[in-house]
Amino acid sequence: MKKEKILVIGASGQIGVELTLALRKIYGGAQVVASDLREENELLKGTGPYVSIDVMNKEMLHVQILRQNITQVYLLAAMLSATGEKNPPLAWNLNMQSLLNVLDIAKEEQLTKVYWPSSIAVFGPTSPKLDCPQQTIIEPTTVYGISKYAGEFWCNYFFHRYGVDVRSMRYPGLISYKSSPGGGTTDYAIDIFLAARDKKNYNCFLEENTRLPMMYMPDAIRATIELMEAPAEKIKVRTSYNLAAMSFSPLEIADEIKKHLPGFTISYQPDSRQDIANSWPQSIDDSSARAEWGWKHEYDLPKMTQDMLLNLNAL
Ligand code: NAD
Ligand code: SER
Repeated sequence: MKKEKILVIGASGQIGVELTLALRKIYGGAQVVASDLREENELLKGTGPYVSIDVMNKEMLHVQILRQNITQVYLLAAMLSATGEKNPPLAWNLNMQSLLNVLDIAKEEQLTKVYWPSSIAVFGPTSPKLDCPQQTIIEPTTVYGISKYAGEFWCNYFFHRYGVDVRSMRYPGLISYKSSPGGGTTDYAIDIFLAARDKKNYNCFLEENTRLPMMYMPDAIRATIELMEAPAEKIKVRTSYNLAAMSFSPLEIADEIKKHLPGFTISYQPDSRQDIANSWPQSIDDSSARAEWGWKHEYDLPKMTQDMLLNLNAL
């Protein structure tokens, strides 16, 4: 059997750092090539190979995939919801062209698997707010959401038309402490912990009762690896799986932090990100992921909060 060699594109980002480290634990450092447009993240240094790649340069990407004998690609390069609204053409271009470049090369070189994440941002104001189903009305209103929804159908197309084994899930907002978030609407749920650690008031850019689906990074990394390792016949959804763990509002997470740090304070000053948050569901029905490949989350709001505060040395 051919030994897998993995390329992670966008490895210096919020998910990329932790996913690369987790894949290196499973496959061995040398088997997982980290790549990004920006410099190698400090946490990755010395743990395995790093190459500088612009995913928009298809020729350069193709050469690297051949040179490094890559068999699997995890594509994480993208522009997220809030940053995307600042430059919609750039967000569309990066989010779409990066995926098409990878899918085309995967088809040509018969890569064994491709991973590409979608997001709860595919859902829009007309989708159900509570327990939003796998299949429902999907009318996204951000360029990020539009690009993710289009991308899901490209994945489905390449699987059915060309047999590319590309897998995807719709991450909720991800909370982590190892590497900084890249400009999403859910980033407040990370910033709030940094303010709490620094004993500062947190001035939140969302209103106090804005509930959104969220997940702690260890759950997201495990979900990603479990989806990629599941037997192909178990993967029935070839667009992108709904995935869930917890939902909370700024008020609820602030109250949870106050249980550990009673002096913590929060104020509210909603900005343009409020409109993005208002367009998304409050909770997600991920029963297909649970039934088809056994997804089960571990972290709820209290467990995540305690772990974040411990790891940020705030307790
Ligand atoms: P991030 O912004 O933290 O990281 C993206 C990385 O891609 C960055 O290191 C950036 O330098 C790199 N990159 C950008 N343009 C590139 C290019 N042309 N070539 C190579 N690298 C390039 O994003 P993230 O939060 O780690 O998200 C990774 C993926 O997960 C994205 O597809 C995102 O849409 C998706 N996602 C993230 C979240 C979340 O809460 N973080 C939620 C849902 C979906
Ligand atoms: N966390 C992401 C964002 O807010 C959701 O995809 O953009």
